[in-house]
Amino acid sequence: MDEEVPQDPSIEEDIHVPVDWTERYRPKRLTDVIGNAKAKHELIEWAEKWNDNVLPDKRAVILAGKPGVGKTSAALALANDMGWGALEMNASDERNKEAVQKFVGRSAVDDTFSSSGEFVPYRQGKRTLLILDEADNVFGNEDRGGIVEIKNTVEKTRQPMVLIVNDYYGLRNRSKSLSQLLKKIEFKPVDNKDIVQLLKKICRTRELSYDLNALKALAERAEGDVRSALRDLQTVSAGRDKITIDDLDVLGYRNREAEIFPTIRKILHDNDPMDAKDSILDLDEEPRNLITWIVENLPREYRDPIELSKGFDYISKADIYLGRVRHSSYYRFWAYTNDLMTAGVCSVKTRKHRGFNKYAFPTWIRKMFASKGRRSTINMLSLKLARKTHTTSDRARNDIFPYFSILFSDDIEFRHGAVDKLDLKPEETAFLLDTNVWAPEVKELYQEEKEEFKVKTVKKKKDLKEKERPEEKPEKQKTLLEF
Ligand SMILES: Nc1ncnc2c1ncn2[C@@H]1O[C@H](COP(=O)(O)OP(=O)(O)O)[C@@H](O)[C@H]1O
Ligand SMILES: [Mg+2]
Repeated sequence: MDEEVPQDPSIEEDIHVPVDWTERYRPKRLTDVIGNAKAKHELIEWAEKWNDNVLPDKRAVILAGKPGVGKTSAALALANDMGWGALEMNASDERNKEAVQKFVGRSAVDDTFSSSGEFVPYRQGKRTLLILDEADNVFGNEDRGGIVEIKNTVEKTRQPMVLIVNDYYGLRNRSKSLSQLLKKIEFKPVDNKDIVQLLKKICRTRELSYDLNALKALAERAEGDVRSALRDLQTVSAGRDKITIDDLDVLGYRNREAEIFPTIRKILHDNDPMDAKDSILDLDEEPRNLITWIVENLPREYRDPIELSKGFDYISKADIYLGRVRHSSYYRFWAYTNDLMTAGVCSVKTRKHRGFNKYAFPTWIRKMFASKGRRSTINMLSLKLARKTHTTSDRARNDIFPYFSILFSDDIEFRHGAVDKLDLKPEETAFLLDTNVWAPEVKELYQEEKEEFKVKTVKKKKDLKEKERPEEKPEKQKTLLEF
């Protein structure tokens, strides 16, 4: 039976997923909300009326503007600045009449509950800001549904209220009488220079160095949306201690996830090989890239060892044809690669997989998209590997490096040996461990190396002394004429 059973959500929780920076750096106070000076000013003016115990003629404000410009943050920061509680109704909550009633009914008209659930009598002058986020989605119109309920509440409320929308006119068209009760405060896209300042500040607190050009480019890309600027900054800085303009390449590639994941799902999760095969027809992706996506995600989906080994067997066959194309430029072999890595890999399942597995962006591609500096690190590493394994550096980069880097990060003994044998520099080690040169695991490695080196040299000197043998010069290589 092909039933889909959702997995226990706690299993989905990946402790290695870093905290979302947009939450971590959410402004706590209005002064930390960047841009939109006028809007912030209007908010404060309105709030101060409440604090002076004057019921403002507009008891609710509506913050309108595109996503990611700081509307929700400003509402929460205002409550914080004013010493008010805050009660939020979120996008995920239900938006029908009953839901709105439940939200506003128990709190708005008179007494209220603080955000921690504690009862706050109105007479004590304590206030709670009622925040109805994403009010665009509230069901109803002028005379029915949640909208009517909101209207009734705004008329009666003794607590300050904030509605938040992306599209002010959409709401106004649905209920003129509601919009007339609201004081409109417009949030505009945030200026690039303000975004750059914020990005700089975050880099500094994280001891992340940057090229100013890179931050400017990030701000430009965001088009006034601070949330997406922070998201991009987080993506770009993963595993780096410096951000340069080249690092932004990874963002372009990241958009591919949305296109590629459905194909990966057809191959790895579903059980229809022909469908898996067809799914790549519209996908504009080179086989050698697609194969890395499949390799990265195969172990996430194929938990059964037999399936896993059969799956990799097809991958290895696909890879053989990929190699043949590389060497012979006979592109027809790509068809075999494609069939093997899609229909082949898909066919090893006896049934459709259950649940939902999170797929990942291939580590290997992410590393390849790294900055020029890092690219030259890869080149150097490939060269070193090539010399040791008696192969070309292209081969070392494509065929040996991926496995080498896995062994290097997983096996400490291997790591020690490799640092020694390949004479790896700290930058190279840091790159392989996806960290920076100051990371303890890198430092530690070189500390030990140094000590070992000291011990070795001391021992060598001692040996020489004991034998009392002068240092021998190596015999000079004879030229051809000397033979
Ligand atoms: N003006 C801003 N100043 C500082 N950070 C912001 C600003 N706007 C957005 N952010 C960042 O983006 C995240 C989401 O912002 P949010 O206030 O929810 O935007 P909106 O409600 O306009 O969609 C915040 O947690 C914060 O990290
Ligand atoms: Mg919001």
